[in-house]
Amino acid sequence: MENLVNQKLFSGVYEGKKVFLTGHTGFKGSWMMAWLEAMGAEVCGYSLEAPTNPNHLELLNLKGKSVIGDIRDIPLLEKTMSDFNPEVVFHMAAQPLVRLSYDEPHETFETNVMGSLNIYEASRKCSSVRTIVTITTDKVYENNEWVWGYRESDRLGGKDPYSASKAAMEIMTSSYRNSFFHLDKYGKDHHVLMGVVRAGNVIGGGDWAKDRLIPDIIKASLEGNPVSIRSPHSVRPWQHVLEPISGYLLLGQKLIENKKEYAKAFNFGPLVQEEMTVQGVLEHLKKYWDKIDYKIEVPKDMPHEAGLLKLDCTMAKVELDWSPVWTTEEGLQKTIEWYKAYNETEATNTYEDLTYFISNAKERKKSWI
Ligand SMILES: NC(=O)c1ccc[n+]([C@@H]2O[C@H](COP(=O)([O-])OP(=O)(O)OC[C@H]3O[C@@H](n4cnc5c(N)ncnc54)[C@H](O)[C@@H]3O)[C@@H](O)[C@H]2O)c1
Repeated sequence: MENLVNQKLFSGVYEGKKVFLTGHTGFKGSWMMAWLEAMGAEVCGYSLEAPTNPNHLELLNLKGKSVIGDIRDIPLLEKTMSDFNPEVVFHMAAQPLVRLSYDEPHETFETNVMGSLNIYEASRKCSSVRTIVTITTDKVYENNEWVWGYRESDRLGGKDPYSASKAAMEIMTSSYRNSFFHLDKYGKDHHVLMGVVRAGNVIGGGDWAKDRLIPDIIKASLEGNPVSIRSPHSVRPWQHVLEPISGYLLLGQKLIENKKEYAKAFNFGPLVQEEMTVQGVLEHLKKYWDKIDYKIEVPKDMPHEAGLLKLDCTMAKVELDWSPVWTTEEGLQKTIEWYKAYNETEATNTYEDLTYFISNAKERKKSWI
C-alpha cells in the first residue's frame, strides 16, 4: 500500500490521531480501519469476533490494536476506551441485518440502542474524546415508498426491527447531544461534537454477510447454483464502501476542526440518477463475471422490506462539498473484480481499490483530497 500520510487527505487531520473504531471486524469497519491506518492514525478497534469466515479484517493484517469485546459489556468497554484515550470515536458496531432482526429482535434493539448508549457514556467518562461519529443507515426514515429521496429532516421510523432499532438509536443520540453535549455549551461546559451518518446499501470486496445481495450471489455462483432473487424491482442506493467512508472521514474532519455547525446527521449516497434496481445490479455484475447467474423467486411469506428507498444527499453536497467518486457501475465493477481475484488467486485487492479510488478522487477534484 502506498503510504497516504504525505498526501494529507482530509487536511491531514488523521495523522497521529487516536481513533476508537467499533465494528472493525465487520465489512465496513475493516475498510475504514485500513484507510485510517494508511493515513497514519493510531486505531483501536473494539468489536465482537469477526462475523464471517473468511473475514476481511484478517486478510488485511493491519497493525492497529484489536480488542474483542461486546458494546453491551460496560466495564470492558469503558476500560478499553479509557486505557486507549482516543480523541475520535467512530461507532459502527451493530446488528445490521434486517432478516436476522426478525429472528433476534431483542438482541437487535439491545445492541443497536443500548450498545450505542454505552458508547456515549464511555465517551463522556473519557476526557480525551472530542469527536463522535455514529454510523446509521438510510433505513431510519419512515418509509412511504416515495419516488423521491429522503432528506435529513424527514420523519424517522421503521417497520422491521432493524430499521426501528436504528431510528430509536438516532432519537437517543439526539437526546444525548441535547442533554450532555449541547452545541450552545460547546467549548464552555464540554468539548465533544457528535455527528451522525446515514448511508445506503454498501457494496465492495470482503463482505461475506448473509442475506446481502452481492455476498449471496458470489456464494451461489461459486457453488454453481443460480442465486434466488426475492425483490428484483427493489430500488436501493447502492454504493461502493469507500464512498460513504470518504463521507464519514470528511464529517469527522470538520468536527475535529471544532466546526460545531456540522454536529448533526448527514446522508451519504449515490447521485439520484445512479440508483438501481436489484435486477439492474445483477445485469451489470454478469457483464464482469460470467459465473454470475440468477433466478427470480419471490417467497409468499416474505417479511416486509422497503421496495423503494432513495436518499437525497443535497446537504452533504452543499455543506460538506461531498459527492461520490465512482458511478454505481464503476463501484459494481470494482466489487466483482475484487471477488473474482480473491476466488482465482486469493488476492486481497483492498489497497489497490483504495489507491485507485484516491487517484480517481484527485482527477475528479473531490474536496477531501
Ligand atoms: N453494509 C451495509 O450495506 C450497510 C448499510 C447501511 C448501514 N450499515 C451500518 O454500517 C455499520 C457496519 O455494518 P457492516 O455492513 O460492516 O456489518 P457487519 O455485520 O459486517 O459488521 C458489524 C460489526 O459490528 C460488530 N458487532 C455486532 N454486535 C456487536 C456487539 N454487541 N458488540 C460489539 N461489536 C458488535 C461485529 O463484530 C462487526 O464488527 C452498521 O452500523 C450497519 O448498520 C451497513
